[in-house]
Amino acid sequence: MLARMLSAALVGVEAELVRVEVDVASGLPAFTTVGLPDSAVRESRERVKSAIRNAGFSFPNDRVTINLAPADFRKEGPAFDLPIALGILAATGAVKGDQDGALAVVGELALDGAIHGVRGALAVGLACVRHRVRTLLVPVDNRAEARAVDGLHVLTARTLREAVALLNGEAEPAALPEAPPVVVRDASDDVDFGDVRGQAYAKRALEIAAAGGHNVILVGPPGGGKTMLARRLPSILPPLGGNEVVEVSCIWSVAGLLTARGALVGTRPFRAPHHTISVSGLIGGGSPPRPGEVTLAHRGVLFLDELPEFQQHVLESLRQPLEDGRVSITRASGTGRFPARFQLVGAANPCRRGCPTLDTCLCTPAERDRYLGRLSRPLLDRIDLHVEMPAVPAGDLQARGAGEPSAAILTRVLTARERQRARFRGTALRVNAEMTTRQVRRLCPAPADAERLLAAAMSRLGLSARGHDRVLKVARTIADLEGADTLGVDHCAEALQYRGFDRRWRA
Ligand SMILES: Nc1ncnc2c1ncn2[C@@H]1O[C@H](COP(=O)(O)OP(=O)(O)OP(=O)(O)O)[C@@H](O)[C@H]1O
Ligand SMILES: [Mg+2]
Ligand SMILES: [Zn+2]
Repeated sequence: MLARMLSAALVGVEAELVRVEVDVASGLPAFTTVGLPDSAVRESRERVKSAIRNAGFSFPNDRVTINLAPADFRKEGPAFDLPIALGILAATGAVKGDQDGALAVVGELALDGAIHGVRGALAVGLACVRHRVRTLLVPVDNRAEARAVDGLHVLTARTLREAVALLNGEAEPAALPEAPPVVVRDASDDVDFGDVRGQAYAKRALEIAAAGGHNVILVGPPGGGKTMLARRLPSILPPLGGNEVVEVSCIWSVAGLLTARGALVGTRPFRAPHHTISVSGLIGGGSPPRPGEVTLAHRGVLFLDELPEFQQHVLESLRQPLEDGRVSITRASGTGRFPARFQLVGAANPCRRGCPTLDTCLCTPAERDRYLGRLSRPLLDRIDLHVEMPAVPAGDLQARGAGEPSAAILTRVLTARERQRARFRGTALRVNAEMTTRQVRRLCPAPADAERLLAAAMSRLGLSARGHDRVLKVARTIADLEGADTLGVDHCAEALQYRGFDRRWRA
């Protein structure tokens, strides 16, 4: 007997529908899987066999062949357990009727027949709707994310027995919760700019960064509040927009981070990997390719604390995602294409010993140069805002009264974003930082006096052509925060202050 079941495999952060074909033919007992299964799929044979027997069905004492079609990409993971088991039961008649095309199924089986959650159920749901498959059977753990897909009828089952009863129409589908909640603010991130004393210059830089989506690096002595400030950036970023919620949740789902939450991601991600991270941890990798930190930070913030401590080749690997907003990883098992449009925030001490001020620094000038020199010119060129922070004077730390709270800053950021949205209507752009050179020319024409100022700065600071465009983008954001339509000399002058490293490199 031949039976078919629809399922789905993950490719990058998306899913592709896969047809599971099961043939049970008389012959010597055997169980083969073809169609580029990876080792986890091949192992599913043992799980499927035990689960079928322990659920009280009989496993055919015949030749069982499973084909996963199309065969041109590798199928990974245990999500095929359930469709394979149901396919075998359909081929042997325990599941009645032809299920082909009507619904898709994903789920991992335990030996006792229980169904465990899988990664990427949200992506699977989107693939179903894309291919006009209206019904999806998922593990109970995945029901919240599957419910987030518009126009999809979601069924859930806890065990293989329950799944069979559902397909045979012997059990009523369980009532499902409404579409899952979107967590807009994590209870854990109770941080606010109001806690920060002094450091007005750095706060201003972060406000500009939030408004225009610019990358920032904060350089200053230990204890000056670099980490503290960076961690507060998400509190002044706009919440994720409608399709961004699904986009980001999909990535988290594929990475296996969503299931436990039972809710979609509504806050911008904030990822802060340790400086010992490897290239594949940061950019993504493995076989089959898995998303890295840059992808988990998509539409949010990637915070690299102690930037010069990261291995140099790890830092250089950031250049592609910073430029293109995505990474592609090619392995024998296939190519993974992952979105990676994040905002980079770096923090660094001016020297390895972390001396409090330049006067008391014990390091030689050569040592200091070597330390920050680990940040390459091409990397720094991709960071719009270079912020040098002083130590906080004791008086500032003891000052009473709170600083300006995040909510007030966020209001200005939202207004500036609104102006950008109006300017970029009809394009794929969302924020000033994303403009290409041509778009900068077209959308941010600088008046003659500002152009003169920039030309002088280019030769004085040794600004590269890319640096020149960066200044204009930052100037545009400053103008947006101010509500100004045309770019002025003041905006360009303020933007130039954030090119500290260009000066350092000339020296
Ligand atoms: N400007 C500030 N306002 C209020 N508190 C501050 C400020 N700067 C530092 N602090 C206090 O000092 C602590 C240490 O600051 P933080 O870790 O942000 O410094 P850092 O610049 O990252 O130092 P390091 O270079 O050692 O990582 C903070 O948790 C905070 O309590
Ligand atoms: Mg720190
Ligand atoms: Zn030093």
